[in-house]
Amino acid sequence: MTSTADAGQASFTLERFAQHPFYHEVNERLVALTRLAKGQRVVDLGAGTGAVTKLIAQEVANDNAEVIAIEPCETALGIARRNLEEFRGAVVRFIQGGAEVLTQLVKKPVDAVFFCNAIHLVEEKDHVLQEILETLGEDGTFSFNTSFYLGAEPPEAEMFYRRWMMKALRVLKKEYGLSPDKTRVQARQRLTEEEYVTLLTSNGFKVRDKEVITVQVPLSGFEAISEYSLWIEGVLPGVPLEAGARALTKAARLTFAELNVTEVPRNWLLVVADRA
Ligand SMILES: C[S@@+](CC[C@H](N)C(=O)[O-])C[C@H]1O[C@@H](n2cnc3c(N)ncnc32)[C@H](O)[C@@H]1O
Repeated sequence: MTSTADAGQASFTLERFAQHPFYHEVNERLVALTRLAKGQRVVDLGAGTGAVTKLIAQEVANDNAEVIAIEPCETALGIARRNLEEFRGAVVRFIQGGAEVLTQLVKKPVDAVFFCNAIHLVEEKDHVLQEILETLGEDGTFSFNTSFYLGAEPPEAEMFYRRWMMKALRVLKKEYGLSPDKTRVQARQRLTEEEYVTLLTSNGFKVRDKEVITVQVPLSGFEAISEYSLWIEGVLPGVPLEAGARALTKAARLTFAELNVTEVPRNWLLVVADRA
């Protein structure tokens, strides 16, 4: 199968990755754990291309339901809008913006806020949690999931991740004469499961449900994430997206072949919290 990186047409969004069944599974499970009801108003923060927005909209669908998809990236938001164009079960609104200014974007209290596969991207987590708390109604819930926390890579998969990155650096240097810009390495710190719980507790939330799901990611999943701008910028800072995508894709294929594996495990942390 030809990947979009091969064809030189990568849009660098999460679109292709988001179509994988394992991704659907971790998002669907979070929506189920949240126990939404028909007719609720829900915010999908960092909605990306709308994969979770659709799951939420299906869950609350009726004449009163409203889902507000908030996303800073204009390209992703455009795709989300297209992906939900035909959905008729609820009003879905799209707003361009970041979690840091949520209270300016949504003025009426909502029943639930989702922040899927994105909370790790936020620097000011305390501030964002306060924005979410203020946006939630009395019995509101906050749900998030992430596979970028300390513990996301199971010990048996560490060798894969190490080799993948080493090979990507080598391909980048040898084939493109490029290296990541060390001065642009993001200070983004990965939190542990416990640190997320503490963060929630100290910001007025009480954890209602917490699960870790281990999914098996096939090579196509790694090829797809290799084409995602935020992933490329995170692991190869300062490298042009096209070269970064090609190096990561090639390195993933080489590592799968070298280790003779068909899947690599990854852990997803899922959390649902109520107002304390
Ligand atoms: C990995 S994608 C996840 C998209 C979607 N929630 C999903 O689960 O498929 C992360 C998204 O978070 C968005 N994002 C990054 N920083 C953000 C911020 N400060 N506030 C809200 N969204 C943000 C990115 O633009 C990106 O679309």
